[in-house]
Amino acid sequence: MDQTPPADAPEPEAVPAAPPCTLVIFGAGGDLTKRLLMPALYNLSAGGLLDPGFRVIGVDHNPNTDEGWRKDLSETMQSFTTDRTSEFHPERIDPKAWGFVRERLSFRQGDFTAAETFSSLAGALSGNVIFYLAVSARFFGPVVDALGEAGLLKEQSGAFRRVVIEKPFGSDLDSARALNARILKHGTESQFFRIDHFLGKETVQSILAIRFANGLLGPVWHRDHIDHVEITAAETIGVEARGAFYEPTGALRDMVPNHLFQLLCMVAMEPPATLDAEDVRDAKARLIQAVQPVQPAQAVRGQYGAGREHGHAVPGYRDEPNVAADSRTETYVALKLSIDNPRWKDVPFYLRTGKRMTDRVTEIALHFRPPARSPFAAPDAPVAPDVLCFRIDPEQGMDIVMNAKRPGPRLDLGRVTAAFDYGDFFKETPSVGYETLLYDCLIGDATLFQRADSIEAAWAVVDPLLKAWVDAPVEFYSAGSDGPEGATALLAAQGHRWLPLGEG
Ligand code: BG6
Repeated sequence: MDQTPPADAPEPEAVPAAPPCTLVIFGAGGDLTKRLLMPALYNLSAGGLLDPGFRVIGVDHNPNTDEGWRKDLSETMQSFTTDRTSEFHPERIDPKAWGFVRERLSFRQGDFTAAETFSSLAGALSGNVIFYLAVSARFFGPVVDALGEAGLLKEQSGAFRRVVIEKPFGSDLDSARALNARILKHGTESQFFRIDHFLGKETVQSILAIRFANGLLGPVWHRDHIDHVEITAAETIGVEARGAFYEPTGALRDMVPNHLFQLLCMVAMEPPATLDAEDVRDAKARLIQAVQPVQPAQAVRGQYGAGREHGHAVPGYRDEPNVAADSRTETYVALKLSIDNPRWKDVPFYLRTGKRMTDRVTEIALHFRPPARSPFAAPDAPVAPDVLCFRIDPEQGMDIVMNAKRPGPRLDLGRVTAAFDYGDFFKETPSVGYETLLYDCLIGDATLFQRADSIEAAWAVVDPLLKAWVDAPVEFYSAGSDGPEGATALLAAQGHRWLPLGEG
């Protein structure tokens, strides 16, 4: 069967430019601004998606000037062309697309906790404004308070005032509730865009299309047909220079109630009534509310020791910079979750994430039940179950691993994979994942942002663990391995086994 799209297939409708807006970035000198926000703005500019009235004001506590900031960012953008390890590595920077962004940049030095920073900003702002909090989480509350007190969040004459808040949104259920209450004193829920960059990944958004736009899969997406589900976000990198952030955070807070739960929602939520933001967010909230709080017996926490990563010796977590020599912070977590709703009752959802693992793999695998009765099955040899795997990162596509007849005179079974890669069907434009999210915020589409109730529900699921793990030991695993033994045992107790990393 020819798999190429027909030459006369209609082009998708052109996406219109976003309305004019001033983007105020708090944390203008930080890593996020350089590595992700500027490349995303550049890509939006290259796609013609920014209005000529768009501009950016960078605010940072370190001194700089308009010209100095523009020069720094231009140099960083250029450096991406030779840095194959950066999230963004174009062959060249298009001077026109970057020039559009560059000439709209201005810089202000300001302390995020000083009222003058905000009163002076007020004088420079009119019309639509997005405040982007690319700052450490401890500033989220104070900056929103100061914006509110300076009157900067008042929406007048049809202009919008929006705030983008990075993660981590809170560090447990109580702090997330307190932060929601604090920011919502200064504006309505629709003004706050709690960002989760996993939702900017095309392959994550596409799960909705694959589930809800195909007649083939919907009927089997159910406990009657699905035995268990694995969600994996494995990284090969260690904690790098982020020890000071990571020590009090750990893998559970860093990855689970946010990124992994967003993957869980995409694969497990009920079909939303429409694709409107509130319908999608209602469906997600209901799913997370149905996830049972997770107890220590359903969880494994690990920490990487020294080992080898792709042939190189690497230190253990405790020997990383800014990490305590006796640290009990987890760099790996595996959980067994139960969802108490009619679709998923008694279907285990296994989640795992870790640093310094064998391979970088983000994927979701659904393991189907074998046929109720198969003429191919023998009493002691059931047929191997089918597995459907969404490959999210770094490979992008979907596999279905199933049984077929091996060529030859006998009716013997062999395992085959039916697979597609996005790149074989769609033109892939380099992106860092923040493009869609920034554009959506500019047009006021909150579908891919987290609502207060979902964030709190997610923290409620992991809260028993956070409490139990305050004094709990960690289980060590070697850097470059598939994780701690305990994670294998967690699944073995149910007769299940993790897929080897990198082999969906
Ligand atoms: C971040 C975490 O939110 O996500 C990091 O703080 C992690 O620790 C990163 O490395 C993973 O994102 P990605 O897109 O590289 O899989």
